Amino acid sequence: MLQNENAPALIQIRDLAKEFDPQSKNTVEALRDINLDIEEGKFTVLIGPSGCGKSTLLYLLAGFEKPTRGSLLLDGKPVEKPGPDRGFVFQDYALFPWRTVLGNITFGLRSNGWSKADADAKAREYIAMVKLNGFENAFPHTLSGGMKQRVAIARALAYNPRVLLMDEPFGALDSQTRKHMQQELQRILMQTNKTVVFVTHSVIEAVFLADRIVVLTARPGMVKGIIDVNLPRPREYTDDSYLDIREAVLSLLSEEVEKELEMDGM
Ligand SMILES: Nc1ncnc2c1ncn2[C@@H]1O[C@H](COP(=O)(O)OP(=O)(O)OP(=O)(O)O)[C@@H](O)[C@H]1O
Ligand SMILES: [Mg+2]
Repeated sequence: MLQNENAPALIQIRDLAKEFDPQSKNTVEALRDINLDIEEGKFTVLIGPSGCGKSTLLYLLAGFEKPTRGSLLLDGKPVEKPGPDRGFVFQDYALFPWRTVLGNITFGLRSNGWSKADADAKAREYIAMVKLNGFENAFPHTLSGGMKQRVAIARALAYNPRVLLMDEPFGALDSQTRKHMQQELQRILMQTNKTVVFVTHSVIEAVFLADRIVVLTARPGMVKGIIDVNLPRPREYTDDSYLDIREAVLSLLSEEVEKELEMDGM
């Protein structure tokens, strides 16, 4: 997609802070002073120690939570509630167990006013994209983890959201399946050119998928550093330049992970 170099970023995060229970003595400062631009069509990875507010930042973008201070703009408009312009993929898939693969994908479309015929046709298009043809009538409990996550990805993409928000989507998969899903996601995104914000703990996964990696500090999460990944796609895990970037991310991250372990008294 052609982009105007001077156009404002699709997502603009300004002086964003999130505190849970701010009035109580148990207040938790999750995020502090986050300033970040997320460009259309780019794959942004958020990485940082456990508890640094990665999921919180995605929930704020999704409109599940509200900021304590600062602002979050999507296409120039404040994010106030969830909407079909943002698709969400959770680590635990969050499929409806009583609906088939097709039913899981059509459900949201039908709730948004699509006719049955249109919703079915759209769902089948995305089932084909995630290579689940033949499983349209299967129920989630009969699918492997990787297959369930494909359904969740198809469901999120079927709305054609502006932004796909993914919270450790491959965190529950075994390492072989995880690698395969990373490659599949890369393939799908090369087709759809989606804007993605993706949370992971894995530096390998981050460098494989990202255009930009945002490293967050230990809680309260602040932006520690941003690393652009300008490697050609499809990527290989073993290129020299890949390994150099991995080192750079690791060195930023390891300082923060150590701080987090100290906070936990470990
Ligand atoms: N609804 C909530 N109420 C109170 N505290 C919360 C709530 N949600 C998150 N927190 C706290 O905010 C902090 C950030 O949590 P968050 O889940 O965003 O971290 P994370 O970076 O996603 O961690 P992980 O890598 O373990 O998934 C944590 O200290 C957490 O306990
Ligand atoms: Mg999380």
